[in-house]
Amino acid sequence: MSDEFPAKSADPRLQSVRLDEASALSPDFYAGDHWLGVDQAAVLEPGWQILCPASDVAQPGDHVVRDIGRVPVLIVHAADGALNGFVNVCRHRAGPLALCDGKGAKRLRCAYHGWTYDLDGQLRTAPEMQDAQSFDRDGIALARIELQTWNGMTFARARAGGPDFATVMAGIDALAAPYDLAGMHHHHRRIYKVAANWKTYVDNFLEGYHLPFVHPGLSGVVSYPQYRTELAPFWSLQRAPVSDPNGLYADGEALYFFIYPNTMLNILPGRVQTNRVVADGPSHCRVEFDFYYAPGFESMAEADDAFSDEIQGEDRLICERVQQGLNSGAYRPGRLSPSQEAGVWHWQNLLREAYARAEGGTTHGDANN
Ligand code: FES
Ligand SMILES: [Fe+2]
Repeated sequence: MSDEFPAKSADPRLQSVRLDEASALSPDFYAGDHWLGVDQAAVLEPGWQILCPASDVAQPGDHVVRDIGRVPVLIVHAADGALNGFVNVCRHRAGPLALCDGKGAKRLRCAYHGWTYDLDGQLRTAPEMQDAQSFDRDGIALARIELQTWNGMTFARARAGGPDFATVMAGIDALAAPYDLAGMHHHHRRIYKVAANWKTYVDNFLEGYHLPFVHPGLSGVVSYPQYRTELAPFWSLQRAPVSDPNGLYADGEALYFFIYPNTMLNILPGRVQTNRVVADGPSHCRVEFDFYYAPGFESMAEADDAFSDEIQGEDRLICERVQQGLNSGAYRPGRLSPSQEAGVWHWQNLLREAYARAEGGTTHGDANN
């Protein structure tokens, strides 16, 4: 990544600096509704992010509901085979079309007053509207969002404004190819709630510096001395050799991808675990975990889940304490380790750039593409 960042700001907290001169992002950005709103509007909503396994929406009528920033979204497999992404907000008075994931729907019916839409988003019926003058039923359809399917995973963004999908993902395919992610099968999902800002959780993901102190079990599996970080414009990769004394994981390499703004791919031999970090408030986030296994590796799922749960508990505790520290009013940004925190620096500069652009009033449409 270059040291040049196009969005300049007079705010010293938003000025990007070289890695060997860098400090952490100001704690100001980890608190309060203003910056939560900026995160949602300028970072999360225009950012491509993993939403669900493609297998969850494999058949006509299958649908999945999620939130991207403030935007409720609905992914639905239509009768013609198309995968459609909609804003899950009725065109009448903003009711929800679907309240939870489901299978085999023939239509989408709003839970508020019962307007129905076809699976392609077209309004089909609107009860009690016969007296409404110039009511153009055929001209009413659900707003769409963009979707992409990648290696059996469905990605989406709530609105344009950031880089396109191919630009974000460029280079990951080649690195992930030996793992044949598309050949893995989704096994189970878990959701973790963490009493920390969503960025605190991402910060923590982006370095292995804490491994020896926070994760004694994982330190015995992943080689901390050989841990290294690679940077691309919109993602980073932490990688290290794996050698598991307990035999749960085959020898090989661990690849931890972070895809800006909130997706993680954790690849170990025979397994990928995906994470999406969702902002639930200035001091709360939720992390969606999906576990996929290669054929023949499903038998490790229970032990893998238990080990992952142990690591997640360790990360949750430290993130919650760090959030207290960030909120204390007594913390000033500390220097980053150039050898251990390049991933943190990289992503915090992407945030600084997004914040500078948002605070400068630049419109979403001319952000990056
Ligand atoms: S809000 Fe959907 S039918 Fe009224
Ligand atoms: Fe960790």
